[in-house]
Amino acid sequence: KRRTAEPYKIKAVEPLNMLSREEREQALKRAGYNTFLLDSEDVYIDLLTDSGTSAMSDQQWGALMVGDEAYAGSKSWYRLRDAVQEIYGYQYVLPTHQGRGAENLLSQLMIKEGDYIPGNMYFTTTRAHQELNGGTFVDVIIDEAHDSSAELDFKGDIDLTKLQKLIDDVGAERIPYVCLAVTVNMAGGQPVSMANMREVYELCQRYGISVFYDATRCVENAYFIKEREEGYQDQSIRNILKEMFSYSDGCTMSGKKDALVNIGGFLAMNDEELYIRSRELVVVYEGMPTYGGMAGRDMEAMAQGIYEAADDHFIEHRIHQVRYLGDQLIEAGIPVVRPIGGHAIFLDAKAFLPHIPQDQFPAQALAGALYLDSGVRGMERGIVSAGRNKETGENNKPKLEMVRLTIPRRVYTNNHMDVVADSVIELFEKRDQITGLQMEYEPPTLRFFNARFSPL
Ligand code: F0G
Repeated sequence: KRRTAEPYKIKAVEPLNMLSREEREQALKRAGYNTFLLDSEDVYIDLLTDSGTSAMSDQQWGALMVGDEAYAGSKSWYRLRDAVQEIYGYQYVLPTHQGRGAENLLSQLMIKEGDYIPGNMYFTTTRAHQELNGGTFVDVIIDEAHDSSAELDFKGDIDLTKLQKLIDDVGAERIPYVCLAVTVNMAGGQPVSMANMREVYELCQRYGISVFYDATRCVENAYFIKEREEGYQDQSIRNILKEMFSYSDGCTMSGKKDALVNIGGFLAMNDEELYIRSRELVVVYEGMPTYGGMAGRDMEAMAQGIYEAADDHFIEHRIHQVRYLGDQLIEAGIPVVRPIGGHAIFLDAKAFLPHIPQDQFPAQALAGALYLDSGVRGMERGIVSAGRNKETGENNKPKLEMVRLTIPRRVYTNNHMDVVADSVIELFEKRDQITGLQMEYEPPTLRFFNARFSPL
């Protein structure tokens, strides 16, 4: 098979810092063994997140210069609105400072005390906003999504039986909307099939329940449909996206991922009445409806990014680069979430470090050990991220205890992926030297961001 390369060439470079092992030891100690608290200057290859870390194109940098900073009626807002209408197909668009700004608006507008919000697993900020508004998140993803080794093409699908059961148990009037994430971050970047989106939408329509997508990584999801679902091989990513969004009433979007910008997001919808209510709320939390939480230049860059991300060559390379790293680890016998998802490799920390019990934070410990070994920064996605149960105060104990190695878009080359692979593989060979952690400081909400630890 002939090899392919990046569908772009490099115009500007940013030198990387390379610390000694002793310096990394000091840095990790200062960070309380939480990779979120490391200074970026102390990091060599930063795989903490794919959020806001994309490299913009020359067109996007150029777009910054033509951004219209008018307080009202900015030209750049129209450009963003047009891009969302053209690529996503929604009628109404409200810019927000990032994805969680849109989640805040949607949750406040739709959720009443005592409501239930079904979703295909949860994302941390999404669930936090649902709960802040008196809602209860209910996981209706298929069981296999919680099994790191189950090889399924569409591991992000909703289990329609679970959704139907929730409707029967609590009543449709207690379910304002279904939150469907395309792809599912916490399941390993796993996609949802077109068939499932269609079925979920049909079921919800019968009960008058809305469907809102978390569209954060929708282009990655579209690529998996093109690759894996019968009948989509010859369709363009643009067509697939259009069909995906036709099975929903709106979406929240973090532009920091599949819109290729460093900051920004939006809330989009088709219902005019909901749009009018959102317009009233956006001025309280974000800004005028024609800039929301964004500068004119940022809206301009995001509009351009939306078009660039919907390009078939861009997304093919993106998915294949993540897989390039994943395949090397699989070949070396490293326990990772399978199949490899869209934005990241998820190391299965329970299988990697079977000698560390979950309440000693194996994923957090593994993320720290990887940083020490090579300066590669990953992120805990396990018991720390899952927080505590709202009622009992007990630690939620998620089945998946993982370290996420998230690949920024258009930033690193496959040589960087090789360096990461070498480090993980070497660490696996000496894994019995890694010890667990204890938590020294625990913030009350979204504790993973600021928690501090010490080694046991
Ligand atoms: N939904 C999903 C699926 C996400 O992954 C994120 C952010 C958000 C919503 C919130 O968007 O950050 O723009 O407010 N995920 C980042 C990550 C933080 O690292 O996975 P935001």
